[in-house]
Amino acid sequence: MYIRQLSLNDFRNYEKLELDLDKGINILKGDNAQGKTNVLEAIYLCATARSHRTHKEKEIIRWGREYAHVNIHLQKNYVQDIIDFHLSQKSKAAAINKMPIHKLGELFGCINMVMFSPEDLQLIKSNPKERRRFIDIELCQIDKLYYYALRQYHKVLKQRNLALKQYAVYKDSSMIDVWDNQLEEYAEELIRKRLDFIEELNLIAKDIHHDISGGKERLQVIYEPSVSLEEFKSKLLKYREKDIVYQTTSVGPHRDDLSFQINDMDVKVYGSQGQQRTVVLSMKLAELNIMTKYIGEEPILLLDDVLSELDDKRQKDLFKYTANIQTLITCTGIEQSVWNTQKIGKLYYVNDGNVVEIKI
Ligand SMILES: Nc1ncnc2c1ncn2[C@@H]1O[C@H](COP(=O)(O)OP(=O)(O)OP(=O)(O)O)[C@@H](O)[C@H]1O
Ligand SMILES: [Mg+2]
Repeated sequence: MYIRQLSLNDFRNYEKLELDLDKGINILKGDNAQGKTNVLEAIYLCATARSHRTHKEKEIIRWGREYAHVNIHLQKNYVQDIIDFHLSQKSKAAAINKMPIHKLGELFGCINMVMFSPEDLQLIKSNPKERRRFIDIELCQIDKLYYYALRQYHKVLKQRNLALKQYAVYKDSSMIDVWDNQLEEYAEELIRKRLDFIEELNLIAKDIHHDISGGKERLQVIYEPSVSLEEFKSKLLKYREKDIVYQTTSVGPHRDDLSFQINDMDVKVYGSQGQQRTVVLSMKLAELNIMTKYIGEEPILLLDDVLSELDDKRQKDLFKYTANIQTLITCTGIEQSVWNTQKIGKLYYVNDGNVVEIKI
């Protein structure tokens, strides 16, 4: 799939923007703080109903304005979709082909994208939350049932934590029992789907990593569930007293993690910075591969300022694996590897919320 046209109104520092995009490589070049990432954020918002950098989406609305609007014309294999996302100070709304959608989650799977930014390079060392986010963003885009189970799980988890707090006052555990049963139902689905997904991710990332490390490194991606499917119910009960004391649920998919091994060595502990970067690149490329397989066409790749963080060899590897994918690259300067691809579709200069096309 690819975006033909993107329009913004009162979105961050854009009063009005209409951007035609090429189905290949699109470059948004400009100095810092000019609005490059804002364009990628608009696409991310339409794909996931949230921003990749803030939980307070009203920050997106241009200062002093009431509303922000994104409109995307998307070309898929056989159909064209028009996506509208509307933000006001109080609410968010979206429409697909001019039909308002009731739940923003319906946006998942309409535009499929993978974003890669310098923060992702910390994936291995950063906290488990970021690694869970990596899994969730991918799975939500390819599996609506996963998205639903994840949403329900977090709703129930919130209720259970509330019941844990209330226990201190009422000494009544019946509500905790109710939430435990529901939590189990959704946790089971999440754990099962994560197991399958990570198994597949492991196989694909292993091959890619083997290739880009010149055949030297054997990567293993390991799912580390906080609790196994079989033990979930018994562990919830076992830790209930502790959970009441701390007023939070200590086991469950919200505590899951991923770990990475190269030639049986834990990358988080012993991996060099270069190895960690290569692992993240392999993971992102595997993510693109799996998404393509599940949706039957290539997703869109958003590279936010990441090329300058990768050395020449890794940049080449990235382009080798993404040849047929619409790619939006933000940068302050154009890397040699991009010129070498000889396939720059469109080059734009971004300056203070204005975007001008530069003829190549
Ligand atoms: N709600 C808003 N209204 C108006 N301007 C905003 C709003 N939110 C952010 N900005 C402006 O947007 C600009 C930042 O845009 P963006 O993050 O896209 O920059 P960038 O070009 O990606 O920069 P860098 O190269 O540093 O990553 C800043 O000038 C900021 O002041
Ligand atoms: Mg930026």
